Amino acid sequence: MDIGKKFRLEGKKAFITGGARGIGKSVATAMAQWGADVAICDRNIALAEQTAKEIALLGVKTLAVEVDVTNPDSVNKMVETIVNNFGTIDIAFNNAGICENANAEDMTYESWKRVIDVNLTGVFLTAQAAGRVMIKNGGGSIINTASMSGHIANCPQVQCGYNSSKAGVIMLTKSLAVEWAKHNIRVNCISPGYIGTDMTNVDDPLAPGWKAVTPQGRLGSPDELQGAVVYLASDASTFTTGTDIVIDGGFTCI
Ligand code: NAI
Repeated sequence: MDIGKKFRLEGKKAFITGGARGIGKSVATAMAQWGADVAICDRNIALAEQTAKEIALLGVKTLAVEVDVTNPDSVNKMVETIVNNFGTIDIAFNNAGICENANAEDMTYESWKRVIDVNLTGVFLTAQAAGRVMIKNGGGSIINTASMSGHIANCPQVQCGYNSSKAGVIMLTKSLAVEWAKHNIRVNCISPGYIGTDMTNVDDPLAPGWKAVTPQGRLGSPDELQGAVVYLASDASTFTTGTDIVIDGGFTCI
């Protein structure tokens, strides 16, 4: 098949957690531009509905689903709703995440748990629920959002819970890739560097420092992650599993 066609996603059914805004919204838009039907899954249902409406203008089917990725019942209900509407799930982008900063010695148990619950347990739960559907249906592609913070400890901001959660996502990705290769399910992740979103604000007082230590001298934009996720979602990457694509303007090279 022509390589251009292999990147296309026509006929595929995708869900994106944390899809209402930021990186999730940008990637959902790219998947829709490439022909996939997309379910925008988020705990902010009002914003998810607005995003789903905007993306529907591209001519694909969209759906907004309220979910709290930390809650197994909520995740199972999300997957049930998507299957009822789309018939199946071919692509899962497990991307919802939060960050909380505190000195390790002062960090509360609740803050640690909140971050691990959303960023690591949430990715496990949504991958597990999607994986069950994909096993029945003969395969699929799962992409998780890790972070360069799964490779390096950020400085000067202190975020040991966040960094640990993202290192966990990278190993969870490899573990699922190995376990589910026999089911024709590929599992990969992306590790973005500093990307301008509501989470990592370009106007943050720390942003000049982040730029200074990034070889490309700037923050990335969510759109600069679209190509990697579409590649991993598509048939252009059929021998790629268990890998992590670092997209960080060179940050982790130095
Ligand atoms: P964002 O804060 O703009 O968007 C996150 C979305 O996740 C929001 O729509 C929020 O409502 C949703 N969400 C949060 N908790 C949820 C829950 N329990 N259940 C369902 N939805 C939930 O953040 P951004 O920047 O788009 O981040 C997306 C992912 O990318 C996160 O996993 C983040 O850790 C990761 N990342 C972000 C980087 C950045 O510089 N912005 C860098 C590296 C990784």
